[in-house]
Amino acid sequence: MSRIAVVTGASSGIGEATARRLATEPGLHVVLVARREDRLRDLVAALPDASYVAADLTADDAPARVREHVEGLGGPLGLVVNNAGAAWRAKFADGGYENVRRTMEINFDAVVRLTEALLPLLRDSAPSSIVNVSSTAGRVARGGSGAYSASKFALAGWSDSLYLEEAPHGVHVGLVLPGFITTEGFPQAELMAKPLTRRMVSTVEAGAEAIVEAGLGRKPERYVPRGYGIAAALRVVAPQLTRRVLGGGAAQAMTTKTGPDAAEGR
Ligand SMILES: NC(=O)c1ccc[n+]([C@@H]2O[C@H](COP(=O)([O-])OP(=O)(O)OC[C@H]3O[C@@H](n4cnc5c(N)ncnc54)[C@H](OP(=O)(O)O)[C@@H]3O)[C@@H](O)[C@H]2O)c1
Repeated sequence: MSRIAVVTGASSGIGEATARRLATEPGLHVVLVARREDRLRDLVAALPDASYVAADLTADDAPARVREHVEGLGGPLGLVVNNAGAAWRAKFADGGYENVRRTMEINFDAVVRLTEALLPLLRDSAPSSIVNVSSTAGRVARGGSGAYSASKFALAGWSDSLYLEEAPHGVHVGLVLPGFITTEGFPQAELMAKPLTRRMVSTVEAGAEAIVEAGLGRKPERYVPRGYGIAAALRVVAPQLTRRVLGGGAAQAMTTKTGPDAAEGR
């Protein structure tokens, strides 16, 4: 009986790359979750052992639907990758609470709700793993992305606690914190336009490899690329320097789009 790996946000970007990477592992059935069913159907057809649940993870019934699908497969649940996420760039004075609410709903609340539904299955099949995809913006915040940073800080803090709570039950909790990766939701157009800043942008394959290390490899924490951990460390040991850098030209250069409905990559 194959072990089961659930990957949310598998219809594009880092999640799709993670599903493709996990599909190369022997004895693993990959369950793809996202809203765009056509994308999921095509990806299932391209993978050796996979199935999908088309769901909006913010919907009330989504966690139960994913759990029922996994239970219906009959195998042990070995890995859950909470990767689905989104960003809407807006200063708080413009986007207000509504922007914070919708960002928390998908980037934090949906992760907590799905994990709550699947945790009993993960404990039953321990040793098993959860990987939560936060962001370097979940350790270092910039102007214009407070809603996104709030959701990713919350996810990182909750994951750090869950790691300690679930270790005695054999459920490993890994945290992945990407920097900049070009995807549909996070195009990084500004960074990609200049040869100097293009080097700051990583690949979906690197993100997928980090997720596999944090999940199957049971690493507690992985920045993508690893060097971005320095930014998080600097935020703690040199907060004034960090504020000066982010408050000046660097923050402006990293801005890809503006306006409440523009997705922002971090
Ligand atoms: N790319 C970066 O630079 C970067 C940096 C740091 C962190 N991250 C994080 O990495 C994760 C993946 O992002 P990505 O860069 O790969 O972006 P992406 O290509 O836009 O992928 C986002 C995925 O999330 C799914 N999704 C969004 N809302 C959903 C909902 N309500 N219900 C179900 N699925 C939903 C999307 O599928 P559907 O639209 O089909 O539902 C899609 O598969 C996110 O959590 C993001 O915050 C990305």
